[in-house]
Amino acid sequence: MQILDGKKLSQKIELNVAKEVEALKATTGRVPGLAVILVGNDPASQAYVSMKKKACDRVGFYSVSHEMPESISQEAIEETIKMMNQNPNIDGILIQLPLPSQIDTTKLLELVDPSKDVDGFHPYNVGRLTTGLDGFVPCTPLGVMELLKEYDIEVKGKNCCVVGASNIVGKPMAALLLNANATVEICHIFTDDLKKHTLQADMIFVGAGVINLITADMVKEGAVVVDIGINRAEDGKLVGDVDFQNVAPKCSYITPVPGGVGPMTIAMLLANTLKAAQLHAGSAE
Ligand code: GUN
Repeated sequence: MQILDGKKLSQKIELNVAKEVEALKATTGRVPGLAVILVGNDPASQAYVSMKKKACDRVGFYSVSHEMPESISQEAIEETIKMMNQNPNIDGILIQLPLPSQIDTTKLLELVDPSKDVDGFHPYNVGRLTTGLDGFVPCTPLGVMELLKEYDIEVKGKNCCVVGASNIVGKPMAALLLNANATVEICHIFTDDLKKHTLQADMIFVGAGVINLITADMVKEGAVVVDIGINRAEDGKLVGDVDFQNVAPKCSYITPVPGGVGPMTIAMLLANTLKAAQLHAGSAE
């Protein structure tokens, strides 16, 4: 059994991004800029935004966060997005999700300039991903694909079971695997007999937000298990969706939580923002 070390790979990617930032600065005088919109006081969202901001600082990006109260209006957030769309110093716009219930999230995501959509949530980029065209891909599943590549894990022809069908993780994960010629199955909250599906899988990708959803009896010997869950256990520790201790001995490869997919998400946000800045610099010439 080998651990897929997302922390180590993310550090390697950050170094590379920092180098590219220097090169972009030298040739165009520009640095990549990221705007983050954070609404309300959700501690998890605040923690994610703070980690994203620190990562921007480490690689030399310009970053700004727009922090708004829970009671903010739809119109006020829309005005901020429009401003960021127009701002030439901003290459990427990230709206931290989830948003309060009075807000129409879809409308906001559709308002983001697709060339600044570093989260890959705009329907334009979702469409490009599902048709196999270049565009911005959601950071978490993109990070998973990078991790598999780093460890030379072949996806082509494999039976892949994606557990969880969210727009942020499960659906784009399935699209990326399909684009890489895997046989893909998506299980979700209404799936009957989850174990029947996971037991057939060469590779399991789980992002459901349920502690210990995947137990050892649900995993085939030698499978690759990628844990995309982040949950807070009763003792305050961060845990994934996989019963790591008992599942790990059956796996060929497995990601830990923390230190697996989480750091890769942030690394891919940096990579996507750099890509946006390079595109904007090219089109401004
Ligand atoms: N909330 C949970 N995951 C994400 C993510 O990857 N991006 C954004 N913007 N919000 C999230």
